Amino acid sequence: MSVKYVPEPFRIKMVETIKMLTREERIQKIAEAKYNMFNLKGEDVYIDLLTDSGTNAMSQEQWAGVMRGDEAYAGSSSYFKLVAAGQDIFGYEYIQPVHQGRAAEKVMFELLMGKGQYSISNTFFDTTRAHVEATGARAIDCVVAEAKDPSIRAPFKGNMDVVKLESLINEYGVDKIGLVVMTITNNSAGGQPVSMENVRKTAEICKKYGIKLCIDAARYAENAFFVKQREEGYADVSIKDIVKEMFGFADMFTMSAKKDTIVNMGGLIGIKDDKELVTLCKARTILFEGFISYGGLSGRDLESLAIGLYEGLNEDYLKYRIGQMEYLAGRLDEAGIAYQAPVGGHGVFVDAKALLPQIPYYEFPGQALAIELYIEAGIRTCDIGSYMLGNDPDTLEQLHSEFEFTRFAIPRRVYTQSHIDIMADALIAIKERSSSIKGYKITWEPPVLRHFQASLAPIE
Ligand code: F0G
Repeated sequence: MSVKYVPEPFRIKMVETIKMLTREERIQKIAEAKYNMFNLKGEDVYIDLLTDSGTNAMSQEQWAGVMRGDEAYAGSSSYFKLVAAGQDIFGYEYIQPVHQGRAAEKVMFELLMGKGQYSISNTFFDTTRAHVEATGARAIDCVVAEAKDPSIRAPFKGNMDVVKLESLINEYGVDKIGLVVMTITNNSAGGQPVSMENVRKTAEICKKYGIKLCIDAARYAENAFFVKQREEGYADVSIKDIVKEMFGFADMFTMSAKKDTIVNMGGLIGIKDDKELVTLCKARTILFEGFISYGGLSGRDLESLAIGLYEGLNEDYLKYRIGQMEYLAGRLDEAGIAYQAPVGGHGVFVDAKALLPQIPYYEFPGQALAIELYIEAGIRTCDIGSYMLGNDPDTLEQLHSEFEFTRFAIPRRVYTQSHIDIMADALIAIKERSSSIKGYKITWEPPVLRHFQASLAPIE
């Protein structure tokens, strides 16, 4: 049975023209880009699903807020508005703006870990992993087993494996664990949600051993929507109350505000009540991000962020938002195309390993599929697999990712049902010629976060 599209709870007031190149032009552009999606020009992309980060469409209230932004260097009214919104929604005393998520990681992680230590997460996002490693510590993923099989339909595939978490703490020793990070939703596992019960249990373990729990909060609202839909006892609880309850279990959060807060730039740090940590965080914010009342952002950014924090919690919006993913996933079900199921919060993660079984992990099936999607329909996606994971920081050997996904990350309030249909049609067309698709090799790579900059070439 086909999934019905949930109509947009908004109308369009401003448009941005996009154009489609010919197939021959796209073949040339992707070769010129050395088969790296990040090297393509935005104007050469028809539907841009590289990321849902900072690619969102702001509302008229947010744009009005842009005009009201207070650009005072210290003590801007937009800053106080943002702090009040953060305190209200998350229930934390200290709310610090920073310019984006990785800035929050840079400010905080060195305060909490260093060489010889470990940090454990349900799954680290790539920049988060890189910031753990930049402190000298090592990052360990500890996601539940069902996340590793895209065909298993479980309600909370983003969860921490709490049994493994406790055994890892005992294996490495409590004093070796700098921080536990709970990523909601679990981006790299397919935008999969984490249950309230799992956050509570993780927090209990952290408390038992005296380890701090940090929420990586980029997609806190989408995660709350899944809790409301899927977890017993939450059907009648508001999204805002679910968010507050979940954050109540943690000690702090780092947030890329470029996702669920529906803005184009921004990040947040939240600290519940650790005054010493707040003092250290303020000093490092001033060092890296600027004075604490702007944190690397303009007053206008702070203002639209404060408004977006609430808009992201709106239930009609979230119903439409998750509905878009479910619609696309429904079309893939009909076509027999595998993805991380059930579909996650911010995109559809197509199982490139299943679609292109002839390509081994070290020839990057997720990247090969992303390249085909660009050639087929001008759609820009990205690899979330071995290509993104990169090399072991100690042995420099290619890591073998648990997943080989091609991520269709859907920007918020940007694309319509017909765009989603083009995505499904392109995948169906590629499936028909999938056996002839070959893998790629890396011809140049930088030492860290290579997928942003590496050059590739097709394997003949
Ligand atoms: N944490 C998570 C879970 C993320 O998804 C991201 C970014 C970050 C931290 C870092 O935030 O980009 O603002 O510095 N994810 C983007 C993505 C880039 O495409 O998924 P940032």
